[in-house]
Parts: sequence; structure tokens; C-alpha cells
Amino acid sequence: MISLAHKLLKWYDEHGRDLPWRVKGGAHPNPYVILVSEFMLQQTTVKTVIPYFERFMKRFPTIESLVQATQEDVYQYWQGLGYYTRAKSLHQTAQMIVSAGKFPQTRDEVLKLKGIGAYTASSFLALAFNQPETVIDGNVMRIIARLYALTSPLDEIQELIREKAQKLTDTKCPADYASAIMDLGATICTPKNPQCLLCPWHDDCLSCGREDVENIPQRKKLPKKEKVGFVYLIKNTKGEIYLRLRTEKGLLSGLYEFPWSEEKLFNKAKNTQKQVVHVFTHFKLTLNIMVLQTDNANCDGFFVPIDKLSAYPMSTLMKKVVKTLESA
Ligand code: ADE
Repeated sequence: MISLAHKLLKWYDEHGRDLPWRVKGGAHPNPYVILVSEFMLQQTTVKTVIPYFERFMKRFPTIESLVQATQEDVYQYWQGLGYYTRAKSLHQTAQMIVSAGKFPQTRDEVLKLKGIGAYTASSFLALAFNQPETVIDGNVMRIIARLYALTSPLDEIQELIREKAQKLTDTKCPADYASAIMDLGATICTPKNPQCLLCPWHDDCLSCGREDVENIPQRKKLPKKEKVGFVYLIKNTKGEIYLRLRTEKGLLSGLYEFPWSEEKLFNKAKNTQKQVVHVFTHFKLTLNIMVLQTDNANCDGFFVPIDKLSAYPMSTLMKKVVKTLESA
């Protein structure tokens, strides 16, 4: 009997995606390529990552070139990708690897690096060193839950899914197997409208043909929180605009921004009636754009000429605010 892993690998050979960080037929020859791409692919889709990855690798082609760069330079090449602590962690991880003189090759060593959890440790070891690691993310959980028709709520069956996913993992070609199962989740066994007829496991899958296949696994959806706040475009008498560096911790840290808050920061500011809206993973944020003329903003920032704004790395949210400046 042909094993499930074998069927998947055969399908991958013919239909697996060509991606700029990928080689088919074993480990990638350059672990740095896998390190950068796996950091970028944490919480971000393949389609979004591709152009960022290509620009990043042109600017920082080796791990040494990344280590030599300033954090600000690294942020410049990350801006727009979101979750900026990843950029900082990648930079620190590169420093740790260069100091050690070699890439780590055991799970314990990899987990000691910055910003690497269970998933990235597995994907890195599988893709860079062909180690028999099992990658398990939301896509893989969906595939396994469907394959065995596990219809209970996802949070009750995570352990069972983990065991089954591990048993399926091919130990001879773990790098290709990891890429293959990622591709199956991204292109065939999709949340909506899965392409069961094209699936290499359609003879084996206990959910194939079930009308409720889209509801496996069952998840509870929490409504997104909505937050509202104010962002301040503060100009001085020279016509310069006020920026501040976001403090180190949390979302968007290390990037520049116009002062903003969920509370009002300045009573004298005027509401432009314009808004920017940005949807983060866990909440939606609407900022009312306020304008203020003062030489003394007192918000831990500094004034910069408007035509120099592009020299300061900013989040997508703040770039939306800049756009309203340009159209004003
Ligand atoms: N998601 C996480 N790592 C990935 C990879 N190497 N290829 C495609 N999708 C991924």
C-alpha cells in the first residue's frame, strides 16, 4: 500500500509551489535563507512575504551583512510587514548565530534563539537541515482534522491532532514533507471551498465529499474588538512635522509615529474629520486625524521636515496617515 506521506510527496513533486526561499528535493543549502523566510512567514501570508523577502535578501544577502546592519536599517526593510518585534528578534538571532560561529542544529539550541517558538523551530530544522520535525500550524491542524473527520471543537482535539500529524510525517524526506503539507493547506485543503478532487489524499480522507467539510475543524469565532483614538499632525512655525519613536515594547515598537492615543492628548487640536482605519489581528483601530500648530509638543519626539519623512520607518497604519497628509 502506498503511504499517505508518499502520496503527498508525489503530489508535491508535481504541484508544489516554486517559492523564492525553497528548493525541492531536500534541505535548503543556505540555512540563512530559511531563517529569514520563516521569520517573515510568522503571521504573514506567502503572497505578502515574497516581495519583502526578495528586497531583504538583496540588501542583506548573508547573515554577516545582517549582523553588521543597524536595527534602523533592518526596520526599513521590514516596514509594512507588521509585527515588528520579529525584525528585532531576527536581528538578535543572527547576532547569536554569528557569535556562536555556526547555525544551531538541535531543537534545544534553536529554541534558545530569539523569537523562535515551536512552529518555527520545527520548520527551520526540517527545511534547513532535513530533520524529521513535524510542522503544525492552523493549516496543518485543518488538514489532519479533516483527514480523520475529527469534528469536535479544535481546542479539545489539539493533542490528538499533534499525535496524528507526527505519525504521518515522512522521516526520509522531512524537508519536502514539511513544504508539501504547507502547500496542501494553502492550495487544496483551504478553509473555504477545498479542492477535494485534486487532493492527493482524497481516497483516504474521511471528510472528502462531506457537505460540512468547511466546518471541520470546528472553531469558535470571537468578534474583533474595536478601538478608537486620535492621531496628531503637529506642525511648528517652520512647517516641520512632529514624530516620535515608539518605545521598545509591544506592537509597532521601534518604528516612528505621529503621537496617537485612545485618549485625547491635546485640547487645542482641531479635528480634520478625516479618519484612518487599520485592522490588526485582534482588533480594529480607527484614528481621528487631528491637527495642531505649536513649537512645543512635549511628546518625547522631535520635528522633521515633511520631505524627510520617508527616512523614518513607519508602520502601515502611520503610512495611511502620511497619505492623508499628501492628499491634504
Ligand atoms: N509558512 C511558514 N513557512 C512556510 C514556508 N516555508 N513556505 C510556505 N508557507 C510557509
